[in-house]
Amino acid sequence: HALSPSKLEIISSGAIVVDSSGRIQLLLRDTDPTTNLLTTITAALPAPPPTSPITIHQLRPGRFLIPGFVDTHNHAPQWEQRGLGQGMHILDWLEKITFRNEARFADPAHARRAYASCIDGFLRQGVTMASYYGSLHGEATNILADLCLEKGQRAFVGKCNMSRGSPGYYRDASVKESLDVTERCIEYVRGIDPEGRLVKYVLTPRFAISCDDEVLKGLGGIARRNPDLPIQTHFNEAEQEMQATRELFPQFANEVDLYAHFRLLGKRSILAHCCYVSEYEMVRLKELGCGVAHCPASNMTVGGGFMAAPVREFMRRGIKVGLGTDSGGGYSSSMLDAMRLAIVASNAREVMSGGKDGGLSISEVFYLATLGGAEVCCLGDKIGNFEVGKAFDAIVVGTLGEDQGVMTVVGEEDGLSTVFEKFVMTGDDRNIIQVYVQGRRVKG
Ligand code: GUN
Ligand code: FE
Repeated sequence: HALSPSKLEIISSGAIVVDSSGRIQLLLRDTDPTTNLLTTITAALPAPPPTSPITIHQLRPGRFLIPGFVDTHNHAPQWEQRGLGQGMHILDWLEKITFRNEARFADPAHARRAYASCIDGFLRQGVTMASYYGSLHGEATNILADLCLEKGQRAFVGKCNMSRGSPGYYRDASVKESLDVTERCIEYVRGIDPEGRLVKYVLTPRFAISCDDEVLKGLGGIARRNPDLPIQTHFNEAEQEMQATRELFPQFANEVDLYAHFRLLGKRSILAHCCYVSEYEMVRLKELGCGVAHCPASNMTVGGGFMAAPVREFMRRGIKVGLGTDSGGGYSSSMLDAMRLAIVASNAREVMSGGKDGGLSISEVFYLATLGGAEVCCLGDKIGNFEVGKAFDAIVVGTLGEDQGVMTVVGEEDGLSTVFEKFVMTGDDRNIIQVYVQGRRVKG
């Protein structure tokens, strides 16, 4: 697990003790394989002795644990359109492919079926926490929240606010309707998970050009009255989008000033893409404490800026960064792919910057996919690694025999860090044997 961007901790022999509420109670390092594990654990547990029996799950050879992946940017209704529209610019892709597809979520039966398939697909790939954009429909968004809770995925779920800029068949009926549906969804999600243990509502102005000023203003007001709610939007994604934004909002010189004016920027803001960020905006993003959802797949293939975002610069300045699949603008829903593509994009950026912004390492992208993402979602004290007190959100990775899939073969002489590197660069869901969220097994 990652302790920081530069610190990957590998424990070759250890144990994690999880209590009945799914919290990590102990992390034992360097356990002695010749001593009885139950004896070791019992000795390490603080008094008084546990009231319920301890069950031990021992990993087979070739298997190891990593924290669950945090997907900081994801569109649940786009699950069934992944891979479509390669090379299209964002506004064309929205109009020609995406809005038609998302409009189908007016039908609750369609939403239930498609969202069940989406959540199962992400859990299977080890995504234990996802920040989801829904469609614009309140009922479908509530169904998404229900299904996350039922299937045990940690999630932020938000109805897209979009009152203009899209065809009449897929647009909020009015400003009032956009805000009213939002308020009702917030209440609904609070009702099904009152403490926000797994599922939370996230305020989701799709992007500025899909929102009337009054919608942005209204959402800013809701954000102020509900300081517990995260906020997400698309930000400085592509030239085409940035130009349209400037034309619609000529009073603002840039997107930071625009969203900040409507009080939508702060520590709980998750800004997708951030491909083009000026010096002024860098300074402001840092001051405001916003987090960046870096989505290399879509940035380099569809919708985005066909651009490698300046991740090294964000990290250098201490701006929070995590990874997003941006599924389906991103053709892949795999966080392993997001990690690899983040390396590819960072190498391109290294060349573009004349060597100033060095490429990202395996441990850095792994940090971004776990603890970095948790911090972007303001969940850094709750998930992201195996620190005592955090929730047990974890993946059992398998690398030998029938677990191997097509991953690079593991040699007898390979140390755990080599096996880990082979998994990150060549593994897939066949190597993801079991998945846990809050101590509950949700796959395998
Ligand atoms: N900007 C507004 N909507 C979208 C979307 O669905 N995907 C991406 N990548 N960018 C957007
Ligand atoms: Fe997106």
